[in-house]
Amino acid sequence: MMWKSFIKPIAVCSFLIFSSFAIAANAPESGKEDDTVAAANYQKYCALCHGAERQGHVNDDAPSLRSKSLMSAGFDERLMAVSYGRRGTAMGGYLDEVGGPMSEDELSSLMQWLQKQSGVEAVELPLEPVVGDIALGKEIYADECAGCHGENGEGDIGPALGNPVMLSLTSDSFLRYAIVNGRDGTDMPPFGDYLEPDQIDAVTAFLRSRATGWSVEKPVFRTPPSVENYVLNPDSPGPEFSLKDGLYVLAKDLNEALQNNKRMVLLDTRVTSMWQMAHIEGSVPIPYYYELYDSLVADLPSDGTWIVTYCECPRAAAEDVNSELRDRGFKNTAVLWEGIQGWVSLGYPVSRGEVTLVDLKK
Ligand code: HEC
Ligand code: HEC
Repeated sequence: MMWKSFIKPIAVCSFLIFSSFAIAANAPESGKEDDTVAAANYQKYCALCHGAERQGHVNDDAPSLRSKSLMSAGFDERLMAVSYGRRGTAMGGYLDEVGGPMSEDELSSLMQWLQKQSGVEAVELPLEPVVGDIALGKEIYADECAGCHGENGEGDIGPALGNPVMLSLTSDSFLRYAIVNGRDGTDMPPFGDYLEPDQIDAVTAFLRSRATGWSVEKPVFRTPPSVENYVLNPDSPGPEFSLKDGLYVLAKDLNEALQNNKRMVLLDTRVTSMWQMAHIEGSVPIPYYYELYDSLVADLPSDGTWIVTYCECPRAAAEDVNSELRDRGFKNTAVLWEGIQGWVSLGYPVSRGEVTLVDLKK
């Protein structure tokens, strides 16, 4: 069946990027059983940020997945966003190939289910690049877009449009469609009636000019620490954290404790592909969708050793795992206040994995 092989990212990718919009528009109906699994997978993996009702903005500024203008454009770009994630944002990659928890088939069913829930069909978008006056586009961007998307496309109320991963996984027509139609139910206004077509081409071309290519990074997998190595510096005394609001440890205090080789456990609660890309040295990947708490409890020290959880930013995933631990009687637990993004921007060390580049255009 066509959908089964649909997202094979390397082998089938030219097919994927360049010829499948028409197929997405005529997607075969998925079966009832697939739908039940997909709905459950949605709640398990996505609801934390995008909301139980797909309404968006529950955590980490995750966009609405109900917006008809999002769901009507570019099935493939959405599939790519979920498969590979958006580097530099809380949106991680869910495909097993980059270290995520889901197979191609599961992802494909999930995305078909999301499409069905939206009640709109994906429209056919032209595949040709949009040609426009980049210098003009730059001016329009500064006047009309920078207020929400950031002066350098770094993102603000709106997502980071300068994100090379976002740009490398989206076609020009997908960007243009979002600009013309906006995203109903969100702050993204439609510019179709306000800007002339050549102005819209110009700003689209400007965004595209900031992309660096069409490749994504695929991590060389690292093995998570084994149970005997969960506790860092087992022979040392633990740190003396004083917590903000009874829950949060500041990056400065955590860094100091790590530098001084204090005894503790660090849990990385993001989707596991993000742990593969980069993590705080010594952390154990226990993602927010983890379910085997009974065995985890047995693997964690119950002697008051500090257990610190962290995620991207802000803190939804880390708070989730933390409260599971507190419910099970662990007392000295804390959430990293700044998240790993804050940690990195403060200049504290992370251990980055090796990556290989996968060229999506081949
Ligand atoms: C930890 C929070 C978090 C989780 C969990 C999460 N997302 Fe996201 N998602 C985000 C954020 C933040 C963005 C916006 C990224 C950006 O700025 O480009 C996003 C973007 C997306 C997009 C792109 C939307 C667009 O406007 O192009 C899709 C599609 C998506 N997510 C689907 C999913 C699905 C499906 C799941 C579950 C498998 C999921 N997300 C899990 C936070 C999350
Ligand atoms: C008032 C704030 C605001 C303004 C002004 C604005 N945007 Fe947006 N934009 C947003 C928000 C919020 C989203 C995310 C919507 C969602 O949740 O799907 C968005 C989404 C987008 C997307 C889709 C990105 C993706 O990941 O799928 C594109 C492309 C975009 N905007 C381009 C522009 C351009 C170009 C301009 C100027 C011509 C502009 N925007 C002006 C708020 C704004």
